[in-house]
Amino acid sequence: MVAGLTPNKLSSKQSADLGKMDADSLWHGMAQHKPFAQKPPKCIQSGSGCYVTDADGAEYFDGVSGLWCVNVGYGRQELADVAYEQMLNLSYSPLTMSHEPGIRLAHKLIELLGYEGKVFFSTSGSEANETAFKIARQYQAQTAPAGAGPRYKFISRYRGYHGHTMGALSATAQAERKLKYEPLVPGFMHVAPPYYYRFGEGQPEDVYNAACLRELEMTIRYEGAESIAGVIVEPIISGGGVIVPPAGYLRGVRDICDRTGILLIYDEVVNGFGRTGRMFGHHHWGVEPDIITFAKGLTSGYMPLSATVAKQHIFEAFLDEPGSDRHFRHISTYGGTPVSTAVGLRNIEIVEREHLAERAAEMGEYLMGRLQRLLDHPHVGDVRGKGLLLGVELVKDKVSKTPLDDAGVMAVIKSCLDQRVMIGRNTNTIPGFTNVLILCPPLVITREEADRLADTLYQAVFALAPA
Ligand SMILES: Cc1ncc(COP(=O)(O)O)c(C=O)c1O
Repeated sequence: MVAGLTPNKLSSKQSADLGKMDADSLWHGMAQHKPFAQKPPKCIQSGSGCYVTDADGAEYFDGVSGLWCVNVGYGRQELADVAYEQMLNLSYSPLTMSHEPGIRLAHKLIELLGYEGKVFFSTSGSEANETAFKIARQYQAQTAPAGAGPRYKFISRYRGYHGHTMGALSATAQAERKLKYEPLVPGFMHVAPPYYYRFGEGQPEDVYNAACLRELEMTIRYEGAESIAGVIVEPIISGGGVIVPPAGYLRGVRDICDRTGILLIYDEVVNGFGRTGRMFGHHHWGVEPDIITFAKGLTSGYMPLSATVAKQHIFEAFLDEPGSDRHFRHISTYGGTPVSTAVGLRNIEIVEREHLAERAAEMGEYLMGRLQRLLDHPHVGDVRGKGLLLGVELVKDKVSKTPLDDAGVMAVIKSCLDQRVMIGRNTNTIPGFTNVLILCPPLVITREEADRLADTLYQAVFALAPA
C-alpha cells in the first residue's frame, strides 16, 4: 500500500468521494465526460498477471493489456525492485552525458535488431515517431546533392496511427483523430493500406499486393521522389483495425524506397517485443527498415520510455567536427532516464527468459483457432492477426461488408465487460468504420484464459440478433 492512497478495495463512501474528485479534476482521453457526472469511469486499483481489479473489488481479465502495452503482465516484483534500486542509486541523469542502464539498453536493442545503428530515447511512441521524422529530414538535408530542394514529405497509410503530437498526428491517417485539430503539419500524405479483406478478397494475394505497391509508387512519382523524406508503416497496422499485409508487401515497399532514396521507417510501438509472435513485427518478413520506433512493450508500461533506432549509415550523416551544425539538435529531458532504461532492460530480459514471443505465437495460434467459429455468425466478416494481436471485423452482412453500427459493436464490448473481460476496438479512427474488435492480451496468457476470452466473445457475438 502506497502512503497517502486508500486501500485497494474501497468502501462505498470512499468510492463515491474518489468519483467526485475524479469528476471535479481529471480530464480523461478519448471520453465524453457528460455521463461521468452520474457514473465516473472505472477506477482500477491493482493489477496482477492478466488481471486488473477495480475499487469495488471486481476483477477483470484485461484483453487489451492496458493500452496494448503490458506485454509481461501486471505486478512483476522484479521490475519494481529494479526501479527501486535504480532510483536510490541514480534517480536521474540526462543523456547529454551517459549512464549505465541507458548504455546497456541501447546495446541490447541493437543486438536484438541484428544490425549496426544508434538508439535515441524519448518517453512516448508519439515522440519516438517525431524523433524519426526529424532524423529523416535532417539526414536527407545533409546527404542531398548540391542545389537539390528539401526532401521533407512523409507518406503513411490510411488507418495507420502514429501518435497524438502534431507531427505524429499528421502521419496518422485516421480522420476522426484529426477532427478539429487541423491544419496539421504540411507535407504528410497517405496511401491505401494493404487491406485484403476489404479490397483484395477474390484476387490472388500477389496481384492485390502489386496493386498496393503500384499506388505507393505512383504517389511518389506524382509528388516527386526528390521531395519525400520517408515512408512510415507499422508492419502490422494495430489500432487502425489489425491489418496484416500480404507476404510480399514490406519487401516491395523496401524496394521502392531503395530505388527512390526515401527512408523506410517502421513504427513498432505496438508490434514490438513479442506481441506478434516474433521479437519484432518485421521479423515475420525479414525486411529491415532505415529507422525503427519502439515504446509500449519496451517497458511493458512499467515506465514511460520509447526509442528511435537509426541504422548506422543514417547516423554517419550526422558526424562532423564540433562546431558544425550536422549533429542532431534534439533532446528529451525524460527520454531514457536511468530508471526507465533499467526497467526496459529487465523487461526485455523477462521477454527473453520466459520466451514470451514464442508464447505469443503459440497462444495466438490457439486463440485464432478458437475464434474461427465466430465466423458462423452473420455479423462476423473477418478474424485476423498475428501472435497476440488479433482483430474481429463486425459487419452488417458478409456480402456488402457494411460495417456493423456502433450500437452493435458496443453491445459486444459491454456484454464481455459484464462477464469481466475487457476487449478493445478501433475507437475514433475512420468515420463509420470503428467496427473492428481488438484482442491484445498480455503475452503471459494461459490456455484456460484464452478459452475464457474466446468463449466470452463467442457468447457476446452470438447474443447479437442477426440483421
Ligand atoms: C502504432 C502506434 N504508434 C504510436 C503510438 C503513440 O504512442 P504514445 O501514445 O505512447 O505516444 C501508438 C499509440 O497507441 C501506436 O499504437
